[in-house]
Amino acid sequence: MTVSRRNVLQYGSMAGLTLAASSLPRFAIGQTAKIKIGVMLPFTGTYAALGEQGLNGLKLALQANGNRLGGREVEIVTLDDEADPARAPANATKLIKGDNVDVLYGTVHSGVVMGMVKVARENDTLLVIPNAGAGAATGPMCAPNIFRTSFSNWQPAFPMGKVAYDKGYRTAVVMSWKYGAGEESNGGFKEGFEALGGKVIKEIYVPFPDVEFQANLAEIAAAKPDCVYVFFAGGGAVKFVKDYAAAGLKQSIPLLGAGFLTEGTLEAQGEAAEGLLTTLHYADGLDLPTNKKFRADYKKAFGKEADLYGVQAYDSGMLLVTGFGAVKGDTRAKAELYAAMGKTVLDSPRGPISFSASHNPIQDIYLRQVKKGQNVVLGVAQKAVADPARGCKMQA
Ligand code: BEZ
Repeated sequence: MTVSRRNVLQYGSMAGLTLAASSLPRFAIGQTAKIKIGVMLPFTGTYAALGEQGLNGLKLALQANGNRLGGREVEIVTLDDEADPARAPANATKLIKGDNVDVLYGTVHSGVVMGMVKVARENDTLLVIPNAGAGAATGPMCAPNIFRTSFSNWQPAFPMGKVAYDKGYRTAVVMSWKYGAGEESNGGFKEGFEALGGKVIKEIYVPFPDVEFQANLAEIAAAKPDCVYVFFAGGGAVKFVKDYAAAGLKQSIPLLGAGFLTEGTLEAQGEAAEGLLTTLHYADGLDLPTNKKFRADYKKAFGKEADLYGVQAYDSGMLLVTGFGAVKGDTRAKAELYAAMGKTVLDSPRGPISFSASHNPIQDIYLRQVKKGQNVVLGVAQKAVADPARGCKMQA
């Protein structure tokens, strides 16, 4: 006979049955040690500001839950991954084997997250991804223990193809850093734009994290497209937007982007960003009670304004709160933990999100325009966008 937890709770108490602790099934006894979260984020380099928000948002969600998950205290171990894919597997292994973390959390850079996915899969360690949009993480490499609370690189990019086409643009140049995020974001835009009859006439890539754009801006001017679509984020986005305006291109060739281009960067970009159109799953000014409360709480806790990266981190924390709450903090109840997380619907500051079968958020993508130093929402570019999850074999 197989003994389920329900059997034990029902019949065990009826018959006064006692079992040795080692034979007790899942979450029959509480584990009392702290739950350890291994945080891998870039705290230095072009993505440093994204890493800071990625930690703060997580802390805010945990603090709102008394720094506990399923009743157990939480301990955070941090590691600066320097947005370096080459060191990612060793860094993730150090957190899992050296620091014995129960949860792996991170990161920002798509190349780094792929190293984390590999190690998390090998060890069946829960991985929560608060930013990096690598398609493979919820595509061919999807797994029960891999969750992403942010986006796939395709998601904010694809709807911009229609936005551009509807504005009457028929040719585009795309540009980015040469790595997964840039290539996938440009690919998403191209798919949306060309499906309607537009044409991407040139693709320009520079090594990550280079910010010497002059020669490429000359190439763009010479190509004379109707518009330019780019993926840049963090410090690189600040430099690109300023250089684009300084080169005199802003007035003649409209610049479009995935919203990372103007996210957390507007103060530094100043006048150069005014008027830019981007698509993203968040905007600071979203008129939602959860967003207002989140932004006020974040400012109070950290003395700074939150941005998208803080939102995604906060949602990651809330997802952990829900999941571990369902298993009462029992880290051994992996199947139940993953099932509870997969079924979670979050009241996110960006609006409600649920998770697809591949564990990626299903969410609205907003069309935003920079006005007076703010990303103002013009409307929803596409509702309830789910990543196609090409290559993911997991069933809901
Ligand atoms: C990425 O590498 O996936 C990424 C980095 C910054 C912003 C968005 C995506």
